[in-house]
Amino acid sequence: MYYIGIDLGTSAVKLLLMDSEGKIVNMVSKEYPLSFPQPGWSEQNPIDWYEQSVAGMKELLQGQDASKVAGISFGGQMHGLVILDEQDNVIRPAILWNDGRTGEETDYLNNEIGREKLSQYTANIAFPGFTAPKILWVKKHEPENFAKIAKIMLPKDYLAYRLSGVHCTDVSDASGMLLFDVKNRTWSREMCEICDVKPEWLAKVYESYEKVGTVLPSVAKELGIPETTIVAAGAGDNAAAAVGTGTVGDGACNISLGTSGTVFISSKSFGVDKYNALHSFDHADGTYHLMGCMLSAASCNKWWMDEIIGTKEYAKEQENITALGENHVYFLPYLMGERSPHNNPNARGTFIGMTMDNTRADMTQAVLEGVAFGLRDSIEVARSLGVAPDRTKICGGGAKSPLWQKIIANVMNMKVDILEVEEGPSLGGAMLAAVAAGEYASVEEIAAKVVRVKKTVEPDPELVAKYEKRYQVFKQLYPACKPLYELM
Ligand code: XUL
Repeated sequence: MYYIGIDLGTSAVKLLLMDSEGKIVNMVSKEYPLSFPQPGWSEQNPIDWYEQSVAGMKELLQGQDASKVAGISFGGQMHGLVILDEQDNVIRPAILWNDGRTGEETDYLNNEIGREKLSQYTANIAFPGFTAPKILWVKKHEPENFAKIAKIMLPKDYLAYRLSGVHCTDVSDASGMLLFDVKNRTWSREMCEICDVKPEWLAKVYESYEKVGTVLPSVAKELGIPETTIVAAGAGDNAAAAVGTGTVGDGACNISLGTSGTVFISSKSFGVDKYNALHSFDHADGTYHLMGCMLSAASCNKWWMDEIIGTKEYAKEQENITALGENHVYFLPYLMGERSPHNNPNARGTFIGMTMDNTRADMTQAVLEGVAFGLRDSIEVARSLGVAPDRTKICGGGAKSPLWQKIIANVMNMKVDILEVEEGPSLGGAMLAAVAAGEYASVEEIAAKVVRVKKTVEPDPELVAKYEKRYQVFKQLYPACKPLYELM
């Protein structure tokens, strides 16, 4: 049997065809536009997502036996607000996870409703990227659109709806809406009231590995796949990536270096830290996780390479970096503001510390290191809670760079396990479909079977010490710049 995993990302949709044994049969990627209508805003058109996913599935199945497809599932960019009217038309472009327009609504939720109540109802506090503040923003700034809402959904759930006709979501993705009671895996009535969300707008909630339905006959015909092909709920991209990297069970860690950068720690038991500095969400394997998310990770390097230096030769640029731990240039990676740990949409990208002898390679190095230091901030929060994994998996576009792997291992002082397949969310999506189809008994079982570590990058004590010194400087840069960011 074949399973399709769809990773609905921010720069592209990545599709993967996996067989019953977990072998990758084919992979395809399709891009779509991302628009920034105002500084700090970030939007996409859900119809592009659907059209490119369907085009991608057709390409994925070219030359393959499509009659063997038994299931489809997803890992999707989290938190995005998709709103549909009574006729199922998309009312406005989706407002994405890295959109910072909801500063006021976030402050209202955190300060007037109060962090304590939010945490009690949902296990989390408000961040501008989360879905609930976006609903309040639409209500205030676009009342005509708010009045038309008949359904709200998350990005990947729009795909599931178009493919199966079922208005569904899963526990991991719902966790990031701030409308969901993470501990009890159900919608929070109190939060829905606070945000004026009608119960009938909300999807039915499933575990990530559950079947929600089968593909619509028209979809089956268009793709040439059986009408019995199941659609499984899938997961938010980070939980799906955790499945695809075998980050399941207790205390396992995964770092994702995609458009965003995340530190994901799986946990069998529910837990919230005192300051809600890390997100406390449901996991796709039926358990829980803690997560820190930085808004710009591999996207900082992409911006630096594509927009500023003007090259596509990322690996070649990195060849000129030789003196790890010695660079005195620092980069603060806040190109879209920052979520974890600063929760500040007004933070900005910043280079600091240059001297006349600095080279282009030093600047590139500073970008890679700045992202690693930003991730270390989340690891430090986890360490302060007594959660101290000594090794991590790594996935996402940035994880392909051996230099970046080495920087991460030494900045974190953690072993970094490099996987045979680092397509975290799309592989995770396909694995969830295989569990939903009954091919495996549980997510843990398929992860044990499919995920293979290729090699491990060990931290080097000398380099760890050098990076420790630099991290202590990095830590002081955000507080020093913060008052200036408010004026920019
Ligand atoms: C997680 C988050 C990002 C997006 C990226 O909280 O906002 O990782 O899911 O797709």
